[in-house]
Amino acid sequence: MADQPDIILSVRQIEKIYNGRQVLDKVSFDVARGEIFVILGGSGCGKSTMLRIMAGGVKPTRGQVFFNNRDMSAVKGDELEKIRRCFGMSFQSAALLDFLNVEENVCLPIKEHTKLDPRIISIMAQTKLNLVGLGGFEKFMPSELSGGMRKRAGLARALAMDPQIVFYDEPTAGLDPVVCAVVDRLIVDLTRKLAITSIVVTHNMESVFRIADRVAMLYQGRLLQVGTAQEIKDSDNPIVQQFIRGDIEGPIQVS
Ligand SMILES: Nc1ncnc2c1ncn2[C@@H]1O[C@H](COP(=O)(O)OP(=O)(O)OP(=O)(O)O)[C@@H](O)[C@H]1O
Ligand SMILES: [Mg+2]
Repeated sequence: MADQPDIILSVRQIEKIYNGRQVLDKVSFDVARGEIFVILGGSGCGKSTMLRIMAGGVKPTRGQVFFNNRDMSAVKGDELEKIRRCFGMSFQSAALLDFLNVEENVCLPIKEHTKLDPRIISIMAQTKLNLVGLGGFEKFMPSELSGGMRKRAGLARALAMDPQIVFYDEPTAGLDPVVCAVVDRLIVDLTRKLAITSIVVTHNMESVFRIADRVAMLYQGRLLQVGTAQEIKDSDNPIVQQFIRGDIEGPIQVS
């Protein structure tokens, strides 16, 4: 069928149990190639766990993740590493190594995964730093950067290996509203310009409606709703509505 979406990542009946506690419960959804897919939900509902399972860094207790129709649980060792090279990770804390400068941080994954000449690696890193607007800051140490710049450097590192999918865990946490909007714009621009797929975990509602093509909302480890940003906005689910509005009163149980 011509208008069938091209699915890059498929999550099927994912369950995760930590120390006898069910953190994710039969979560299933598809991510289309080229879209910005947001995973939304309250603190501790399992968003980061879901992201790590999708990126192949954490094994689910049950269920499967298919990348380009390939079951990731069926591959191991080098094969899994090869698949994971198609993924870029942008962590909540930016996770830059403090003893390396910005360029060396971005070079790190390229050095790890290729045998390219250091001069080529340096050019590749500089290209990515230019893409995120950090051209000229190559020799800066992470401690010399602002929070927003650190996030952008982390993003450049996530893009280093020309990934098909970039996973972001709370890319705008701790940023002021303007810098937050800048990072959001960058995520949208990079996704479209590089024709990559972005999967973003956040609980910042403004960000969600700025960047999301589609949204999956998790609640207590279960998938509550998945749909376009507009469908989520118009949801008649009272939990979704309470979360979007940030109301104190409503069905959400806060412990
Ligand atoms: N490695 C682990 N070992 C044991 N329990 C874990 C582990 N990782 C996560 N959990 C538990 O799983 C639950 C979900 O955690 P997760 O980090 O996925 O939530 P989250 O939605 O990302 O929360 P936040 O919004 O606060 O980042 C939490 O109760 C957490 O304690
Ligand atoms: Mg988290």
